Amino acid sequence: MLSKKMTLAFVLLILASATEFVSSDYQSDALYAMKVKLNASSNQLTDWHLNQVTPCLWNSVTCDGNNVVRVTLPSLGFTGTLSPRIGELKYLQVLSLQDNYIQGSIPPEFGNLSSLTSLNLKDNRLTGEIPETLGNLLELQILDLSQNELSGNIPSSFSNLSSLTDINGNFFGATIVSQEFKAIGNYFGASIVSHEYKCPRQL
Ligand SMILES: *[C@@H]1O[C@H](CO)[C@@H](O)[C@H](O)[C@H]1NC(C)=O
Ligand SMILES: *[C@@H]1O[C@H](CO)[C@@H](O)[C@H](O)[C@H]1NC(C)=O
Ligand SMILES: *[C@@H]1O[C@H](CO)[C@@H](O)[C@H](O)[C@H]1NC(C)=O
Repeated sequence: MLSKKMTLAFVLLILASATEFVSSDYQSDALYAMKVKLNASSNQLTDWHLNQVTPCLWNSVTCDGNNVVRVTLPSLGFTGTLSPRIGELKYLQVLSLQDNYIQGSIPPEFGNLSSLTSLNLKDNRLTGEIPETLGNLLELQILDLSQNELSGNIPSSFSNLSSLTDINGNFFGATIVSQEFKAIGNYFGASIVSHEYKCPRQL
């Protein structure tokens, strides 16, 4: 009887770890792709490699259970680009990549990060327009895209971002169309054309 119980427990244990492997796998792949695209040097993110069951033990990665919820990689001198595969991290709540030299555009796939509450891409070398798809990030509270070389307007889809409480200062070198922003806490009462505009915290 005891041994049957033990066998059952053993089988359950194996099943549990198999499930963990399956659910963590795509997250490891996505994070690894991120590392490669960021052009991390050989002495950076050395514990980010694919022959591990879970990425939850990797440096700069925080999990809730088996789900990656936070990735913080500020000020590491990354010169590469943002992998579209980051968009697969559907449990990610916080992504911090500020103060690097990241180039290229923000992938539209970032709009798939449906759990994201904070996105900090401040002070990089990002170019191109802000993807319309970021308007799908309904949990987003903090967004900092300042000190980049982004162009164009804030997408009209941002009017759906009702959780957004903090868009950070000296935002874009572009006109911000105020009308689109009525829905997000009356931050922008007028057309904003200033390069160095500082967002008031609460009006
Ligand atoms: C990637 O890093 C190497 C070595 O640090 C550098 O020579 C190269 O220019 C970088 N490539 C990009 C696209 O940043
Ligand atoms: C992620 O976003 C891209 C571009 O916005 C889209 O084409 C793709 O179908 C999305 N993938 C998933 C898994 O939702
Ligand atoms: C806001 O969200 C609704 C519902 O998902 C959608 O139909 C609408 O097009 C969105 N508004 C904008 C400006 O993208």
